[in-house]
Order: sequence, then structure tokens, then C-alpha cells
Amino acid sequence: MAAVASAPPAVKQLDGEVPLVLVTGATGYIGGWTVATLLAAGYRVRGTVRSTTSKKVDVLKALPGADNLELVAADLLQSKDKWLPALKDCTFVLHVASPFFVGTDEDK
Ligand SMILES: NC(=O)c1ccc[n+]([C@@H]2O[C@H](COP(=O)([O-])OP(=O)(O)OC[C@H]3O[C@@H](n4cnc5c(N)ncnc54)[C@H](OP(=O)(O)O)[C@@H]3O)[C@@H](O)[C@H]2O)c1
Repeated sequence: MAAVASAPPAVKQLDGEVPLVLVTGATGYIGGWTVATLLAAGYRVRGTVRSTTSKKVDVLKALPGADNLELVAADLLQSKDKWLPALKDCTFVLHVASPFFVGTDEDK
């Protein structure tokens, strides 16, 4: 993934805190670009992934601003107990994970 920017500006809420944004499906196409864009804009990001040991996670950890990125494991179909903790302290939620796959019989 190409870098979006290397020197993120500070983004602050009225209370002085840097907003924390939850991005579901951080390893996905839309999720990855969303994480990169938020980090470049100076947000703190918590990304949900299904596996914290997946190679896809290495790409996220190498992003500029990844010091402000936290990754947590959560599966939309299995991890009911993980979602409330994942939401804790988040100001925004960008739900872009998708457990649905588009395909045709030709893919089988
Ligand atoms: N790509 C586009 O051009 C585009 C355009 C318009 C709308 N959208 C919509 O945007 C959404 C994301 O698209 P995308 O292209 O980014 O898809 P993608 O690259 O296939 O990413 C899907 C993401 O969802 C995660 N995921 C899959 N099953 C999950 C589950 N059970 N629990 C938690 N996470 C799960 C995947 O995690 P793993 O890495 O673990 O598989 C991955 O991070 C979809 O709803 C799609 O229809 C996409």
C-alpha cells in the first residue's frame, strides 16, 4: 500500500484529546485505505482484524503514523464479547468489514 502522507497534522477534539476511530475490517481494501488516511490526518485508530498474526497486519503496522494504530482481534460472526471492548473510548466508528463475499459458480 502506498503511503498517504508521512507527517500527520494534529487533530484534536474540543476536550483536547486526539479522536480515536474504530475501523472494522482494517485488513480489507477499503479498511486499509481508511486506516492509512486516518493516520495521515493525525487520528488515533483502532482497527479490528480477524487475526493479529496475519501477513495483512504487517502492511498496517508499516504505515506512516502506525504508532497511533492499535489492532484488536474481532470476528463479526464469532466474537460477540470482543466488540464492546473494541468500541471503548472511540469517538467515531467506520464499519467497513464485510463478512460477505461476492462470487460466481465459476469461482468454485
Ligand atoms: N472495494 C470496493 O471498491 C468497494 C466499493 C463500494 C463498497 N464496498 C464495500 O465495502 C466493504 C468492504 O469492501 P472491501 O473491498 O474492502 O472488501 P475486502 O477487501 O474483502 O475486505 C473485507 C474486510 O472484512 C473483513 N472480514 C471478513 N469477514 C469478517 C468477519 N466475519 N468478521 C470481521 N471481519 C471480517 C476482512 O478481514 P480478513 O482480512 O480477515 O478477511 C477484511 O478486512 C464491503 O461491504 C463492500 O461491498 C467496496
